[in-house]
Amino acid sequence: MEDEKYTSHVESGAANGGPSAPPQKVSFWTKRKNHYKRFWWLHLLILIIVVLVVTLPLVYVGFPNIAQSQLNKSTLNITMQQITNPTPTSVQLAQMAIAGNPSSYHPNLDGFQAALFLEDTEPNIQPFGYIEIPPLHATRYTGITTNQTLNITNMDQFTAYNNLGLTTKTYRVALRGRTKLHEMKFPTTTVDFNQVVTLNGLNNFDGINVTNFQLFLTPQGPDQANLIGEILIPNPTIQAIEFGNVTFNVSVDGQNIGQSFLNNLMLMPGNHTYPLRSTTDQEAVIGLITSKYKDGILPLTLIGESVVYNGQHLPYFEGPLRNSTQHLNLNVGPALAQLGLNLGSLSGSNSTG
Ligand SMILES: *[C@@H]1O[C@H](CO)[C@@H](O)[C@H](O)[C@H]1NC(C)=O
Ligand SMILES: *[C@@H]1O[C@H](CO)[C@@H](O)[C@H](O)[C@H]1NC(C)=O
Ligand SMILES: *[C@@H]1O[C@H](CO)[C@@H](O)[C@H](O)[C@H]1NC(C)=O
Ligand SMILES: *[C@@H]1O[C@H](CO)[C@@H](O)[C@H](O)[C@H]1NC(C)=O
Ligand SMILES: *[C@@H]1O[C@H](CO)[C@@H](O)[C@H](O)[C@H]1NC(C)=O
Ligand SMILES: *[C@@H]1O[C@H](CO)[C@@H](O)[C@H](O)[C@H]1NC(C)=O
Ligand SMILES: *[C@@H]1O[C@H](CO)[C@@H](O)[C@H](O)[C@H]1NC(C)=O
Ligand SMILES: *[C@@H]1O[C@H](CO)[C@@H](O)[C@H](O)[C@H]1NC(C)=O
Ligand SMILES: *[C@@H]1O[C@H](CO)[C@@H](O)[C@H](O)[C@H]1NC(C)=O
Repeated sequence: MEDEKYTSHVESGAANGGPSAPPQKVSFWTKRKNHYKRFWWLHLLILIIVVLVVTLPLVYVGFPNIAQSQLNKSTLNITMQQITNPTPTSVQLAQMAIAGNPSSYHPNLDGFQAALFLEDTEPNIQPFGYIEIPPLHATRYTGITTNQTLNITNMDQFTAYNNLGLTTKTYRVALRGRTKLHEMKFPTTTVDFNQVVTLNGLNNFDGINVTNFQLFLTPQGPDQANLIGEILIPNPTIQAIEFGNVTFNVSVDGQNIGQSFLNNLMLMPGNHTYPLRSTTDQEAVIGLITSKYKDGILPLTLIGESVVYNGQHLPYFEGPLRNSTQHLNLNVGPALAQLGLNLGSLSGSNSTG
């Protein structure tokens, strides 16, 4: 070892040609220089490897994580929804949504299919349908417009979804999908799209009211209606829903007094009135106002009976509607007076007779 050292020392000293120069110093720096001159490619290679080892995980492991966590922070609000052309197995679903992206990344997402489901089916989710989300360029706020046929993939779940929509004030629906995310020069990464959207429900049609009507002594039209008027149905949601022909059973204190028909019902957002036709048992009505309800105000109970569109029953609307009860007071005094029947005289004749 020592021999070798010494020999090399002498050699490098000789190479520098000056025995007077401090041999060790010169030989060290020169050796380095020569070494780099000869092996620069090795150092470059090592540098490249080091850079790759450090940055590749950042790009291939770190970036997908960043992309996913940024996507996790995004929000989704549905601003318009239209459910039309219902069939026993599908509905036409048009909607507008706004995705909020608080991050400074503005990636592109490929189009993908998102499952719609109720969270109480997690972890083994049972989607009631799938929507096609179009390719997106995510900015701070991104509008997403879709309009497609929603095939019902799980009838029980779609019925449960409609039950929530009909009977609650607010409810949640979840979306889940997987897509590819592209951000500038970063490698394309696969991300999971998980969102929960809170929607207003119809709250059992709270505030429903017959705003005007007329009674007929002889039944009118093929449905034999003898009460024809208008019904106000408050709709505090962003949804327009085409139900088709809806029939309600009408009762007072559990006594059936007739049926109401809301034909071609397209429920619009907001407070609107719709045409109402009813078949009422007028004898039963007069019986009620001459005995218990002498002020002529009947406390009606409406229970959904059927929902039929183009001759086909829609069980996913019908079930929830049969499940939900609406109450409203109907003042029949003025309508009876129009027929020439005076409340006072009716109850008067009852009390005298
Ligand atoms: C994104 O959210 C999901 C839950 O929805 C969670 O499991 C996952 O760890 C989150 N990913 C990141 C990178 O934050
Ligand atoms: C969604 O609605 C919530 C509550 O109304 C609001 O705080 C949020 O900013 C909205 N997000 C978008 C993207 O519109
Ligand atoms: C959605 O598409 C259907 C069928 O093409 C069409 O009738 C309807 O008007 C569309 N709805 C919206 C909101 O664009
Ligand atoms: C819905 O189902 C019909 C018939 O099964 C099919 O032709 C159609 O492509 C489906 N639509 C969607 C959006 O999945
Ligand atoms: C229902 O409508 C009638 C007639 O317009 C009105 O007199 C009554 O106050 C309304 N009832 C409610 C609870 O709004
Ligand atoms: C609808 O009417 C209810 C009262 O029945 C009221 O509270 C609500 O603000 C009204 N909504 C609209 C959109 O006018
Ligand atoms: C509605 O009334 C009809 C006839 O009176 C009856 O057969 C039916 O069972 C009732 N439906 C409900 C949901 O109560
Ligand atoms: C509702 O019933 C009427 C009368 O029977 C019918 O003409 C109409 O086509 C029905 N509407 C729907 C959407 O099925
Ligand atoms: C009726 O309501 C009950 C209780 O909310 C629910 O469990 C059931 O699934 C509903 N039925 C339908 C057909 O919506």
